[in-house]
Amino acid sequence: MQQCPLDGFIAGPDDAMDGVFDFVAPDEFPEVAAATGAMLVGRRTWEVGDAMEADEPGSTDYPFSGPMFVLTHRPLEPPDPEVTILTGDIGDAIATALDAAGGKNLEILGADVAGQCLRRGLVDEILVYVLPVLLGDGIRFSSPGLGRLDLEPVSSTRSGAVTILRFRVRKHS
Ligand SMILES: NC(=O)c1ccc[n+]([C@@H]2O[C@H](COP(=O)([O-])OP(=O)(O)OC[C@H]3O[C@@H](n4cnc5c(N)ncnc54)[C@H](OP(=O)(O)O)[C@@H]3O)[C@@H](O)[C@H]2O)c1
Repeated sequence: MQQCPLDGFIAGPDDAMDGVFDFVAPDEFPEVAAATGAMLVGRRTWEVGDAMEADEPGSTDYPFSGPMFVLTHRPLEPPDPEVTILTGDIGDAIATALDAAGGKNLEILGADVAGQCLRRGLVDEILVYVLPVLLGDGIRFSSPGLGRLDLEPVSSTRSGAVTILRFRVRKHS
């Protein structure tokens, strides 16, 4: 799940996320969070979220309390007993986190991590909250080198100013 301005940048220059969460109504997330059994988060996303939370407590609140995995080569400082660190092969990381999800969805956050998963054919669905703004520069939704992927539209809904698109990733044999 990514909140994505219309020009495809999921964060602005220097990881700026100012106002990005303001577009999505607070009652938008519970349904997605309820279907989520575990989360796999890239280290950079984790650190940007930490910094946002330190600046403005509550700004990254998300109604999910299940198993949380951070993909990184380094220990968290300070360590977080509620987070499991995973490192190395993305396929192994997905298998571990998916196992912990107990049959529910595994939510993947972070462009680099999502790109690795897409390259390996490990993503079933992409959920995009298209925000009514152009950021102009920053972190792209899709990392360079990903190549073409075909998607099947599943749903398109509107919530306030945000258009919510769900796609299934077509898998070629
Ligand atoms: N708009 C949205 O909804 C949304 C959602 C998510 C993220 N974001 C934004 O996107 C930006 C972060 O995305 P990103 O693509 O730059 O980074 P990312 O995917 O969050 O994290 C990448 C980092 O994770 C670690 N990592 C990745 N694969 C690994 C592996 N296989 N084994 C071990 N460690 C691994 C590496 O960190 P180390 O080597 O340093 O450990 C790598 O630099 C932030 O600005 C964030 O706010 C926006």
